[in-house]
Amino acid sequence: MHNYSIRVYPDPVLRNETLPVDRFDHELADLLSKMEEIMIANDGVGLAAPQIGLSLRLAVIFYEGKMYHLINPEIIESEGEDVMEEGCLSFPGIYGKIHRPLKITVRFQDEEGRETILKPEGFLARAFCHEIDHLNGKLLIDHFSPMKKNLARKKLQRRQKEQELDRDE
Ligand code: CO
Repeated sequence: MHNYSIRVYPDPVLRNETLPVDRFDHELADLLSKMEEIMIANDGVGLAAPQIGLSLRLAVIFYEGKMYHLINPEIIESEGEDVMEEGCLSFPGIYGKIHRPLKITVRFQDEEGRETILKPEGFLARAFCHEIDHLNGKLLIDHFSPMKKNLARKKLQRRQKEQELDRDE
């Protein structure tokens, strides 16, 4: 199978438009297990398809021992507000306090295409919002103030340069 790696900002694929998943077959099941593997290997709570270079409306979340497969997910209701520090595998070393709804109602499909509705709260609601943001090309730093966004950008540019230097040596 294709060898996927985590795409780090400013990789343009993170901003691409994503297409709905329309085939519920063994290829989708294989892709979901691959995404689970990559997420767990990188100590992530969630991983969206664009983060491995695939412009699909697909994400995985692992929280409190439970695995969630988000296929074509959509937030249909949200309520309240909560602030918590958040990070992202596509922004190594970058964290920020982000406002999210406290409770949401989310509709998505399972591996067989059946409609599922969940009403996550707190941290799990936050994880769903974060992954669904990815599917809409919205990223962690888009929630930051302009100044904090700039600092994060510079930090990642520095990191990219250091890695290029390491490769050249
Ligand atoms: Co993320």
